[in-house]
Amino acid sequence: MSTLELLVLDGDGIGPEVNAQALRVLRVAAEAGGIGLEVEHAAFGGASLDAHGVPVTDATLGLAKAADAVLLGAVGGPKWDDVAPELRAERGLLRLRKELACFANLRPARFSAAIEPASPLKADRTAGTDLLIVRELVSGIYFGEPRGIDRAAADPEGFNTMRYSRSEIERVARVAFRSAQQRGGRLTSVDKANVLEVTRFWREVVSELGAAEFPDVQLDHQYVDSFAMKLVADPKGIDVVVTGNLFGDILSDLAAALTGSLGMLPSASLGEGGGIYEPVHGSAPDIAGKGLANPLGAILSSAMLLEHTAGRPELGRAVTAAVDAALGDGLRTGDIAWGQPGTQRVGTQAMGDAVLHHLRRQLDA
Ligand code: NAD
Ligand code: IPM
Ligand code: MN
Repeated sequence: MSTLELLVLDGDGIGPEVNAQALRVLRVAAEAGGIGLEVEHAAFGGASLDAHGVPVTDATLGLAKAADAVLLGAVGGPKWDDVAPELRAERGLLRLRKELACFANLRPARFSAAIEPASPLKADRTAGTDLLIVRELVSGIYFGEPRGIDRAAADPEGFNTMRYSRSEIERVARVAFRSAQQRGGRLTSVDKANVLEVTRFWREVVSELGAAEFPDVQLDHQYVDSFAMKLVADPKGIDVVVTGNLFGDILSDLAAALTGSLGMLPSASLGEGGGIYEPVHGSAPDIAGKGLANPLGAILSSAMLLEHTAGRPELGRAVTAAVDAALGDGLRTGDIAWGQPGTQRVGTQAMGDAVLHHLRRQLDA
């Protein structure tokens, strides 16, 4: 790819702060790699609600569809918590994912010795952890109909519907099987097949697909409750995980915390067209606007963009190595500080500066 058309959606809270650092990194990597970068910005989430009365406009969706990739910060916050459900900032994000048909959400969690003290687990449990959660992103209980709150009923109720079609399961499972082929050759499908028919069907379809197309991948199935326990008890035994939208949301925050901090985890949402690249964390209203946010999840998301959309994995690896080098220098944002000797607490901008410094050295070498 010689020119990359990028739509930047900063969103809310710490979104603009972390995205600014990811974009700096992307500009340097693109220039070194001979990729022209054309960047547009648009309001998104709460910011769009303030400016346009909706969390995402049709015009912004049009820009996103036309772009090669979307670099997204985070959406939502207390300021917009009381709006009608269909106007919530989070709904804008769901609509973007759906309309771009980004059905496979890749959320890698990798152990880093540098931030091991930030993990709530003992080092011997987490050392060597390197797993990938492939979360289905545009269906399941997040999107199933009927949904709503029936306030007029004699006993008012809220309800949602969890459903998956064969084709929806197959397409995300294919991405997960292929990822397993490129990694350790093992795939765990996570469901609740002992209770929910929809996930019983999920299990059937994943098994059939594995037998028919991926006999080289070692497939196993686990119930989400005991898998959550395994994730904490023995994370290094896990290679690739495929699961539905809701379970994937929960398990990826858990995986993030195990490896140190939610602020470290990147993601790529891939589908039929351009990808969406966003850190796994939210808008962190408690630290927004203070320059304290960890930009590494966002920066590592730009590394995933270089690999998956730009088709330049070597540039993505250079960014990842630069992140490791900045941590190796002892730099830590507050979420990963933990007062270890030889470390220094820095803010968002200084962490971005350090990554850029190391990236330039990597790319010159
Ligand atoms: P959150 O991820 O925003 O924050 C959880 C905790 O982690 C907070 O203590 C926060 O300070 C900390 N944290 C998160 N990212 C960090 C970073 N980069 N550096 C340092 N610390 C970080 O989750 P929440 O508080 O439950 O949600 C806040 C808002 O964000 C809600 O409106 C929620 O819906 C939204 N949200 C958005 C996304 C997204 O846009 N992809 C994801 C999750 C939550
Ligand atoms: C995430 C977030 C979103 C989700 C919210 C903000 C809609 O938690 O990306 O993990 O639930 O998918
Ligand atoms: Mn989440």
